Amino acid sequence: MKIAFFDTKPYDRQSFDQYIDQYDMKIKYFESKLNEDTVALAAHSDVACAFVNDTLNESVVNALVDMGIKLLALRCAGYNHVDFKAAYNRLHVVRVPAYSPYAVAEHAIALMFSLNRKTHRAYVRTRDNNFNINGLTGFDFHGKTVGVIGTGKIGRIFIDICKGLGMKVIAYDMYPSEIEGVEFVELASLYQASDIISLHCPLTKETHYMIDDHAIQQMKEGVMLINTSRGALVQTEHLIDGLKSKRIGSAGLDVYEEESEYFFEDFSSESIDDDILARLLSFSNVLVTSHQAFLTREALSNIAETTLENIKAYQEGKLLVNEVCYHCPEGPSKCKKKETGRCW
Ligand code: NAI
Repeated sequence: MKIAFFDTKPYDRQSFDQYIDQYDMKIKYFESKLNEDTVALAAHSDVACAFVNDTLNESVVNALVDMGIKLLALRCAGYNHVDFKAAYNRLHVVRVPAYSPYAVAEHAIALMFSLNRKTHRAYVRTRDNNFNINGLTGFDFHGKTVGVIGTGKIGRIFIDICKGLGMKVIAYDMYPSEIEGVEFVELASLYQASDIISLHCPLTKETHYMIDDHAIQQMKEGVMLINTSRGALVQTEHLIDGLKSKRIGSAGLDVYEEESEYFFEDFSSESIDDDILARLLSFSNVLVTSHQAFLTREALSNIAETTLENIKAYQEGKLLVNEVCYHCPEGPSKCKKKETGRCW
């Protein structure tokens, strides 16, 4: 199996190289992101391996199929960037459903702590021999209400940590299931009652721009918003208005709706053309990290192992446990995966 590996970073290479010898596969690493301009690099490969900010629209899917690629191995959990209409019946898509929910939940907590106690600002001050603490006042998390949207693998771990901090946890999920000590409420009630809101749901048609002006207007004055899920859950221009009006007291963002242009790359010697991102970065009460919530040693190892196991299962004609279930045109009763282990 020849794998065309896109958007390679040094940490990817390190984690995949430590396992690859155990498999009958060869990886060709490309630093470029996968898109219409770079897809030709995948020629003569059997598998395309992509990450969160690669482009997997109809034209890229068509190009992969045309060059004979039958498997797209995503190194991430989210798959909102794949055109499944184009892929159905032509390109199997596997993913890594969970590499470390702890990594992401802990990063959300890290953003909360930094924003609250302003450690990002304190760091800069003391580096400059400025030991003044004016303007760095935070609040006790203990006793505050955190609203969690999406109570899956990451949301639940986040909830456990918040409970440990002595916070009251309320939650909203489209498919709520009981969690001890957590009250499930409607979105409007969550917005009204939460001192901190953390997003842990996937990006879907329903959740796209769920945090817009209408939602922000219902929130408590000074609320802290944390987004480690997907950028387009938040209408960024409305978030900026919310920050300017001080309805939003602070925001911790590991994701941004237009991140693919910038995140994971070094622009420190250039200016940023994206005025919305530049405005976000100008607020001292906004902390932007570059989609790094997943980035722990444990998560990288899990990503490498699961991706290579997914490819091996395909290679050996076995059940593709991590194939993303397509919306079967024949309806769920005709789901082929149950019989054949594959979506088609
Ligand atoms: P999960 O699938 O275990 O949980 C998602 C939860 O969201 C489920 O409980 C589901 O019922 C709920 N949900 C679905 N639609 C909803 C809606 N319309 N409203 C409210 N809740 C809804 O997923 P997991 O592993 O917890 O990941 C959550 C998200 O975190 C992913 O979708 C991904 O976007 C993001 N993520 C971010 C990473 C990063 O590095 N920043 C890394 C990994 C995941």
